[in-house]
Amino acid sequence: MKQIIKVGMLGIGNVGRGTYETLEMNHQKIAETTGLDIEIVKILNRHPEKDRGIDIPAEKYTQNVADILDDPEIDIVIELIGGIEPATEYMARALSNGKSVVTANKAAIAANGKRLAALAQENHALLRFEAAVAGGIPILTSLTTALLSNRFTAVHGILNGTTNYILTQMSEFGADYADVLKDAQAKGFAEADPTADVEGLDAANKLSILISLIFGIEVSPETLPTQGITRVGLEDIEFAKESGYRIKLLATAREKDGKVCANVQPALVPINHPLSSVSNEFNAVYVTGNAVDNLMFYGRGAGPLPTGSAVVGDVIGIARKLEKNSAYDLVPQLRYDSGLEFDGEGTNKYYLRMMVPERTGILGRIATIFGEHDISIESIRQNAPYELDGERVAHLIIIVFPVSKPQLNDALDAIRKDGVIKSVDNIMRVEE
Ligand SMILES: NC(=O)c1ccc[n+]([C@@H]2O[C@H](COP(=O)([O-])OP(=O)(O)OC[C@H]3O[C@@H](n4cnc5c(N)ncnc54)[C@H](OP(=O)(O)O)[C@@H]3O)[C@@H](O)[C@H]2O)c1
Repeated sequence: MKQIIKVGMLGIGNVGRGTYETLEMNHQKIAETTGLDIEIVKILNRHPEKDRGIDIPAEKYTQNVADILDDPEIDIVIELIGGIEPATEYMARALSNGKSVVTANKAAIAANGKRLAALAQENHALLRFEAAVAGGIPILTSLTTALLSNRFTAVHGILNGTTNYILTQMSEFGADYADVLKDAQAKGFAEADPTADVEGLDAANKLSILISLIFGIEVSPETLPTQGITRVGLEDIEFAKESGYRIKLLATAREKDGKVCANVQPALVPINHPLSSVSNEFNAVYVTGNAVDNLMFYGRGAGPLPTGSAVVGDVIGIARKLEKNSAYDLVPQLRYDSGLEFDGEGTNKYYLRMMVPERTGILGRIATIFGEHDISIESIRQNAPYELDGERVAHLIIIVFPVSKPQLNDALDAIRKDGVIKSVDNIMRVEE
């Protein structure tokens, strides 16, 4: 006999719709392979008059969240309203009522995952959030099941589809940042307010979750050094191409000697690295394990159905545990007990683009100041000078050997004080 699992869902936007559709589309296959009859019985819909573009019986809708959170018949709550609050409070209430929770909400998990995970444990419930990192790519489940035999030393991710789409279009068609952003908004790849994406905050939320899962430490998104793509210009993209790189917004965390270094930053990725060929709205996560070596997960990081696939996968995982009454044997996806230390951005090779006046002696002066700060230059190139506000100027592009950010910033301060340059217009990491 099939076991009926009753699910309540909060929100019926893009992912809510995709989740409902995934379950409808594959209900029979799921029932045949798992013996479970998973049914979404109630949906919180604060605007029932709105056309949701999907056929859902009106009696499933409620405007009262208590109909879901406090209904003893509901086993699992799916949270898809987004934002930190009231999503966190709703999830906390569901967990306190002994219900398991599935969410796609990276902002709420990055901000309050520790508290929610503790509540889940106290109440013998489960908390799963596969869709919160890289949408349809099953990275969290893979790391906590098939790959548990590994100790991971590094993770590099292209975790934001909007910024990857913009950078790809700039690189392939020489398109201007502002034009591509408008085009991405028109195609539905970018939000009306793109700040969280283009400033790297969305990727920082996801990286913070990955760091806790992979390295077992708490690093809040606010603590992660984060830089978005708004300063990336066509001159950077051209230089990168000519030098054998593509520019990607990379979320990176590495462990060495008990210390974890991490950041979110546009980076020059060598074209022979698999991450450099991840284009447009696609996401990828590249992990390095001490047994499996390098692995890359690639796929759609967003969209109603790909994200719905991950949400329903979590629901099935929980339902199977509930069915077997063994809710404790799913490995926690957040850990804070490894004893590793967070050590900021670490040392990296950096790319610098400066604007300099067309004058003799400038290169020599810059090289001297870097030398005084113990920084070695790998390459230096000056582009053809041009006229700007009545003055002849040129872009100077410098790549420096691995250095810490404070050390680099000290040298750049000294260069600025010296009056030898007009501005430092972009700084990016160079992946080796
Ligand atoms: N979109 C993606 O591809 C994607 C991918 C991965 C993860 N996620 C995550 O999935 C979550 C949902 O994203 P989405 O794209 O589906 O967002 P969305 O399209 O804006 O949908 C959000 C839904 O929640 C409802 N809602 C918002 N605040 C509410 C509140 N306080 N009370 C009741 N209902 C509320 C909205 O109602 P109204 O429509 O009535 O305003 C809407 O139905 C977010 O956490 C997001 O980060 C999204």
